[in-house]
Amino acid sequence: MKDLLGMEPSREDCEQEERELENNGLQFELTRRRFMQTASVLSAAVAVGLPGIAVAETSATLPVTLKVNGKSQLLSLDSRTSLLDALRDHMELTGTKKGCDHGQCGACTVLINSRRVNSCLTLAFAAQGAEITTIEGLAKTSEPKDVSELHPMQAAFLEHDGYQCGYCTPGQICSAVAAVDEQRRGALSIVSFHTGKTDQPEMTDDEIRERMSGNICRCGAYPNIVAAVRAVSRGVSA
Ligand code: FES
Ligand code: FES
Repeated sequence: MKDLLGMEPSREDCEQEERELENNGLQFELTRRRFMQTASVLSAAVAVGLPGIAVAETSATLPVTLKVNGKSQLLSLDSRTSLLDALRDHMELTGTKKGCDHGQCGACTVLINSRRVNSCLTLAFAAQGAEITTIEGLAKTSEPKDVSELHPMQAAFLEHDGYQCGYCTPGQICSAVAAVDEQRRGALSIVSFHTGKTDQPEMTDDEIRERMSGNICRCGAYPNIVAAVRAVSRGVSA
């Protein structure tokens, strides 16, 4: 460390100063100075781009077990990995889509313990120990052979043509499954308050549009998506 005039003190000066601090019982000050000296060295190393030190400061690869669609898998991931990247890049579950990667489009929606989340905003490590369900795990069988083996919401999207390009569809379906469940449990939306239906909200089209508003469809398949969700919520779909 430099003194006030910007001069580097000699090694002998430093040792002399440390001896004086120790002799005077100023252990805390000594510890603080050593911390500051170490931090200065690390900062300088990072600033000039010494790779070993820079990596050690910013990332760690750690084991994590994720339970997805009923199966547990041990992975080794950078601690900053999102659940979305873990699913797509490390577990080959590419049904979940990456749209914005910023929590704005809903394409990455999955269910964690039956609640919908944006997997792009969820750290994989935060999902450890939870039941994660993706679009691949919704159907009644792992390899559905016809519509009767699909989840009712999947069947309704087919029946009502609730998609065009299909990119947003896995997120729409996962979100819709949770939205209907939330309504059945009596969870309220802003529309429930506007309509005064706060005892038991009805799944009107306005409620559906509000509850599905976190899922964007660039193809504009909204009327048919609403029709599919309406059918399932009223129990009139497959
Ligand atoms: S990709 Fe997650 S919200 Fe858009
Ligand atoms: S069906 Fe194309 S983005 Fe929704």
